[in-house]
Amino acid sequence: MSVQTSADSRIIQSVFQVLLISLLVLGSGRWILDELKSNESRLFQLYGIRQREAVFVTKEDQLDESCNVFEGQWVWDNVSYPLYTEKNCPYLVKQTTCQRNGRPDSNYQNWRWKPNSCDLPRFPPMKIFKAEEYNASIEYYWAPFIVESISDHATKHTVHKRLVNLDAIEKHSKSWEGVDVLIFESYVWWMHQPKINATFGDTSEVREYNVTTAYKMALETWAKWFKTKINPKKQRVFFTSMSPTHLWSWEWNPGSDGTCYDELYPIDKPSYWGTGSNQEIMKIVGDVLNRVGEHVTFLNITQLSEYRKDGHTSVYGERRGKLLTKEQRADPKNYGDCIHWCLPGVPDTWNEILYAYLLRSHSNSF
Ligand SMILES: *[C@@H]1O[C@H](CO)[C@@H](O)[C@H](O)[C@H]1NC(C)=O
Ligand SMILES: *[C@@H]1O[C@H](CO)[C@@H](O)[C@H](O)[C@H]1NC(C)=O
Ligand SMILES: *[C@@H]1O[C@H](CO)[C@@H](O)[C@H](O)[C@H]1NC(C)=O
Ligand SMILES: *[C@@H]1O[C@H](CO)[C@@H](O)[C@H](O)[C@H]1NC(C)=O
Ligand SMILES: *[C@@H]1O[C@H](CO)[C@@H](O)[C@H](O)[C@H]1NC(C)=O
Ligand SMILES: *[C@@H]1O[C@H](CO)[C@@H](O)[C@H](O)[C@H]1NC(C)=O
Repeated sequence: MSVQTSADSRIIQSVFQVLLISLLVLGSGRWILDELKSNESRLFQLYGIRQREAVFVTKEDQLDESCNVFEGQWVWDNVSYPLYTEKNCPYLVKQTTCQRNGRPDSNYQNWRWKPNSCDLPRFPPMKIFKAEEYNASIEYYWAPFIVESISDHATKHTVHKRLVNLDAIEKHSKSWEGVDVLIFESYVWWMHQPKINATFGDTSEVREYNVTTAYKMALETWAKWFKTKINPKKQRVFFTSMSPTHLWSWEWNPGSDGTCYDELYPIDKPSYWGTGSNQEIMKIVGDVLNRVGEHVTFLNITQLSEYRKDGHTSVYGERRGKLLTKEQRADPKNYGDCIHWCLPGVPDTWNEILYAYLLRSHSNSF
């Protein structure tokens, strides 16, 4: 039996912040790749002309409602993973292509996330294809703090100076209205220092706030917008939890003094949780989303990503738009990036989880 996507989700326009850019690029990247595998000529039609698409889904793809997809473990699977390669996917940004950038090992690509009581559905090559009835657009929207800030320009933004308007969201939110599927994420930009300069109300009155206090105020601004502007009958909203960092190896390897550089395996301590994921922020997100209610779906990907100290770009990424020099690579302590992720890699799993939820909601509407 096949189920066609419901009419009200013809436009899948998503909103991602900071780290999730890879997720989006990937979402379309993989889809394109599937096309490539199944029929090369179709790929170019698809991307060139942006034709309408239909997604057909079979019963076996549908996730058991009782399965908690965030609880499970990483299992070695070098048969089905990686799902695609850097070479096959021309849309990856240099920041993420660790192999091309010189990372010598590639085992980090071969781990599959296995929830305890089910399997994640795969993007099956032959089940995604283009059809005339489908009119979708996927967008990446840059707003690193969700609310307004001086870092809102997608490329011309300051990294060190931060100033956030905690009660101003309108400039961004008007772009989100009427979108069928919205996916939010905001974390790492807040975590620069324990305090952050912000305004609330009068924009000329800048004050230093504790980051957790400021984050809470910003999220409440978002929640207020959500309650007045989101139509849960027509719109689907996701909120993704923080993407963890792995800056200090002593956290998983006591006594050591490194970073995520040269880490070749996931952490296999159950429920491992490092300092890169702030528990207070997690609690704030939980509280605010609880109050917003069932109309927002929380994608709690932090724990499963916490295990993956091996998945970061480390010295095989970019710094200020340029690949690291040989000298910089020799100094992983100062130049290693233990925040961003290689692709293929961990963000694919976030993608698969999102996909699982989208399938679930489609199956529920039939
Ligand atoms: C690929 O697409 C072409 C043109 O649409 C079609 O003629 C051909 O049968 C397809 N091949 C496969 C293997 O699906
Ligand atoms: C897959 O992993 C197994 C176990 O580590 C190894 O023996 C095998 O050579 C690997 N296969 C490939 C294609 O890498
Ligand atoms: C496709 O979607 C866009 C954006 O909503 C809309 O403006 C356009 O009319 C749609 N095209 C068709 C053929 O339905
Ligand atoms: C806040 O801004 C002031 C003035 O620019 C600056 O001196 C201070 O370091 C900033 N605080 C933070 C936490 O960035
Ligand atoms: C800000 O954080 C500091 C240190 O964690 C704490 O002592 C203080 O009470 C906090 N202030 C507010 C207003 O939450
Ligand atoms: C997200 O998952 C982690 C690990 O399972 C858990 O500690 C945390 O409380 C969860 N967050 C929320 C808001 O439910």
